[in-house]
Amino acid sequence: MKAFLPPIIFETMWIAKTKSHLKKQLNDCSQPVILVPTMGALHLGHAGLIDMARQRAGKSGTVIVSIFVNAIQFDNAGDFEKYPRPFDADITVCQLHGVDGVFAPGHNEMYFPDRSITVTEELLSKGLCGDTRPGHFDGVCTVVLKLFNLTRCDAAVFGEKDFQQLAIIRRLVRDLDLDVEIILHPTIREIDGLAMSSRNVRLLSGHRKDAPRIRKALLAAGEMTSAQQILDTARQEIEKSPYLKIDYLTLVDAETLSPAANLNTPTILACAVYYDDVRLIDHIGIRR
Ligand code: PAJ
Repeated sequence: MKAFLPPIIFETMWIAKTKSHLKKQLNDCSQPVILVPTMGALHLGHAGLIDMARQRAGKSGTVIVSIFVNAIQFDNAGDFEKYPRPFDADITVCQLHGVDGVFAPGHNEMYFPDRSITVTEELLSKGLCGDTRPGHFDGVCTVVLKLFNLTRCDAAVFGEKDFQQLAIIRRLVRDLDLDVEIILHPTIREIDGLAMSSRNVRLLSGHRKDAPRIRKALLAAGEMTSAQQILDTARQEIEKSPYLKIDYLTLVDAETLSPAANLNTPTILACAVYYDDVRLIDHIGIRR
């Protein structure tokens, strides 16, 4: 018979719901402080980021996970309301992965009712998700800057899945001289290739079965030689689905994120698609 090993729970994990509580906890924190910013509904993708943060922090450093569904980055009230918020399960994930502290403020704790400053990135946030989600990256930049300030982190881990977000945050750090190292974590996928996302739980079961098609379409397209063939192949494969609606499907320069007409520089094939109102994104690198 297999021995039952109870999970190791780190009883000492703190949860700060206010900025003042967080400040008190930070007084006792050992360096380096590594932050994993999230909106909760934690899955194995987030867990990978947390484990990477621990690797970077070492045994004695501090890993902080922030859980905050940031209203100002949602362009759609319905999407914000439907965003899953399984707080207790999130806390368990954090405990199981040896997180030292969770910062989980409410909206009014983070934002003054008359807040009047928003951080805007003006170049990389044009196009891709910036086109179809107006104001989204302003909300992301504003909250990430606040989280960096509040946690006084030395480094923060972000997922490559949201590559536009990652590029914008790197620009935020560069242009505002923030002393925070940005650590990249590769995309973590389900066994069938679907990129893990907090939104996947909202897919109807037929849609969930169909969803690995997204990655397969991108990979098949990546085998093509010209930009036009790549786009045509991806579109044809995606459009074989009776459910999927394409939000965007595009080739962009990996550095500038501007549209890539040829494949002379490192290029990314990126898409956003809808199953009903569930929006999913994915991308692959095209190397020539
Ligand atoms: P959220 O969607 O919760 O994602 C938190 C972090 O997890 C992001 O850096 C995201 O890129 C990463 N992530 C999500 N799914 C992943 C996967 N399958 N593989 C690898 N990394 C993955 O992104 C946000 O929250 C918010 O915009 C935030 C940065 C917290 C600001 O509100």
